[in-house]
Amino acid sequence: MKNLAIITGAAGGLGKAFTKYLIDEVDEVWAIGRNKEKLNSLKEALGVKIKGYSIDLSDIANLDLIKSELDKEEYTVKYLVNNAGSGRMAPSTDFSAQEISSHINTHSTSMAALCNICISYMKSGSHIINVASQSAFQPVAYINLYAASKAFCCSYSRALNMELKESGIVVTVACPGWIKTDLLQTEMNGYKIKFPHLAEPDDVAAKTIKDAKKGRDISVYSTYVKVMQLFSKFYPHKLIMNIWLKSVKKYME
Ligand SMILES: NC(=O)c1ccc[n+]([C@@H]2O[C@H](COP(=O)([O-])OP(=O)(O)OC[C@H]3O[C@@H](n4cnc5c(N)ncnc54)[C@H](OP(=O)(O)O)[C@@H]3O)[C@@H](O)[C@H]2O)c1
Repeated sequence: MKNLAIITGAAGGLGKAFTKYLIDEVDEVWAIGRNKEKLNSLKEALGVKIKGYSIDLSDIANLDLIKSELDKEEYTVKYLVNNAGSGRMAPSTDFSAQEISSHINTHSTSMAALCNICISYMKSGSHIINVASQSAFQPVAYINLYAASKAFCCSYSRALNMELKESGIVVTVACPGWIKTDLLQTEMNGYKIKFPHLAEPDDVAAKTIKDAKKGRDISVYSTYVKVMQLFSKFYPHKLIMNIWLKSVKKYME
């Protein structure tokens, strides 16, 4: 029986950090991403335990490959980390139907479908870690699609954790703030975009794994994001949305 970690977006900033931390706990890491070169570099950096799968998660039919690979040998999925994601800051009307569908499929549909595929190969002590975002706490204008799909991820993960309680499988949703990775746009319409309280991917991954092992259903990195989470619980969302709107409006002009 081989122990597996299946990590989506494994060659990206946060995904690579998760991979580095989990690789010693398993026999194989199935690293999922679209870019083959990035997956090859990950394997070169972290070694033979890495098996790269070049899969576009915006098309859920592509998940059939993972299901058929899992049926080839006796596997236990010890960790599933649904981490793949992308996004851009723009007015909602800027997004084509294709981009809307791709976002929702990657952040929501594939995330939920991959949970269902992997749960049959999990046992007590296995972990699902789904990466949402601080933007899941309330609606966020100009990253609307991103935030709305992350809100789905957050809500879905917490309810799934309740459903799986008796099985001993823990589901943890990570809701970090800004992280220093390639996902962040550095410039827009001639403005340099500022991101407050930027976190290091290694620190976010370490905290998420620690919280998952404690059995927590949600992991929030940094005091700043915890304060923001409290704000979104106790202050009217309209107020928080307006503060955000004022801080990003200039980038849209
Ligand atoms: N950076 C932040 O400020 C921040 C804050 C909160 C939450 N997050 C979340 O953290 C997660 C990791 O993002 P990151 O910051 O590490 O960004 P990143 O460095 O750009 O990594 C994202 C990874 O996701 C993969 N990916 C994207 N779309 C995919 C698709 N359709 N199919 C397969 N793989 C796909 C990319 O692989 P390819 O390059 O091969 O396509 C890439 O490896 C995301 O879910 C993101 O929403 C990030």
